[in-house]
Amino acid sequence: MNAIMNTYARFPITLVRGDGARVWDDAGNAYLDFISGIAVNTLGHAHPQLTAALSRQAGTMLHCSNLFHIPAQQQLAARLTALSGLDRAFFCNSGAEANEAAIKLARKYFYDQGSSRRTIITAHQSFHGRTMLTLTATGQEKVKTGFDPLPPGFRHVALNDIEALRQAVDGSTAAILLEPLQGEGGVNQANSAYLQAVRALCDEHGLLLLLDEVQTGIGRCGTMFAFEQAGIVPDILTLAKGLGGGVPIGAMLAGEEVATAFGPGTHGSTFGGNPLSCTAALTVLDVIDAESLLDNVIQRGRQLQQGLAALQQRFPIMRAIRGQGLLVGAELSIEAAPIVAAARSEGLMILLAGPNVLRFLPPLNIRKEEVNEALALLASAMETQP
Ligand SMILES: Cc1ncc(COP(=O)(O)O)c(C=O)c1O
Repeated sequence: MNAIMNTYARFPITLVRGDGARVWDDAGNAYLDFISGIAVNTLGHAHPQLTAALSRQAGTMLHCSNLFHIPAQQQLAARLTALSGLDRAFFCNSGAEANEAAIKLARKYFYDQGSSRRTIITAHQSFHGRTMLTLTATGQEKVKTGFDPLPPGFRHVALNDIEALRQAVDGSTAAILLEPLQGEGGVNQANSAYLQAVRALCDEHGLLLLLDEVQTGIGRCGTMFAFEQAGIVPDILTLAKGLGGGVPIGAMLAGEEVATAFGPGTHGSTFGGNPLSCTAALTVLDVIDAESLLDNVIQRGRQLQQGLAALQQRFPIMRAIRGQGLLVGAELSIEAAPIVAAARSEGLMILLAGPNVLRFLPPLNIRKEEVNEALALLASAMETQP
């Protein structure tokens, strides 16, 4: 009997090893990894610099708790605030925790002002996590079913519809929480004009703009943060997934004025920002710089989208290609799961984003030949379909 709780529909495969963009199963079969642990393995598998930094840190100190100052945490906070234009960072261990912290901070900010604003508005099809607050924030019913009573104070509107958002804002609204590019919900772009209008709406009403870059952040979309491409800056930013390159870490960043709503005892995490996870994140940022990975993301992302557009000519079931950088989706006119399985049989790991969208999330250091190989494997997989 399987002693693990049945919370995942797992692929029938056991992965045991990885190297770069390649992974191997327990039978010795190799696969090209265009999943990257769902946008986590930023540098691919077993990157020598990350391996060395982690083993050095493990031999020095793994953990000491936030009862003490932690140099790697301070350095990471300095790097992320300099990169984002925000002023303060709080560290946790996952995307849901980062969003949980963001929602708490937004509410506490208004509480401290004596304001009754508490409601958070998010988008249909959004995904913000699986804790009670973040599943309630999530704009997908299937994530919430069976978990009532849900915490109050959330509303949902259609993405890219500024009028709907304007209508939803009232005296109880505290913040708007958006993914710049929805990952789980189907690779749906919040367009730049919309994000700029949302920023202006927040400024007009004194609301906070929270951006969830758990999946899009840390170079995934071709800039360190996807919001840069819209020319806006959020009040609160959340990160996780790719930040640690495979070591669990989440971060919530805010401007100084908002950040002051958290004081000692208001929020915390035993593991959050420990020496090991912060060392991982610092190394990921170093390698992104040293290997010019943002340029690579832009070039390989373009190559991937162009290659998929060429496949679209051959396979009309591919209805639309979309995405940013190396978060790319291909919407099909049929269920996508059989194509994901067929691709795996060909030796290519890809995943779904909703029932009919294929999602491609290679490591940020994916090479040109590997993108071509993935496109050829996908073409073979598509050919096996009736
Ligand atoms: C945009 C976004 N936010 C939050 C989360 C939740 O992150 P975690 O699974 O680390 O809690 C995810 C995970 O897919 C995500 O894509």
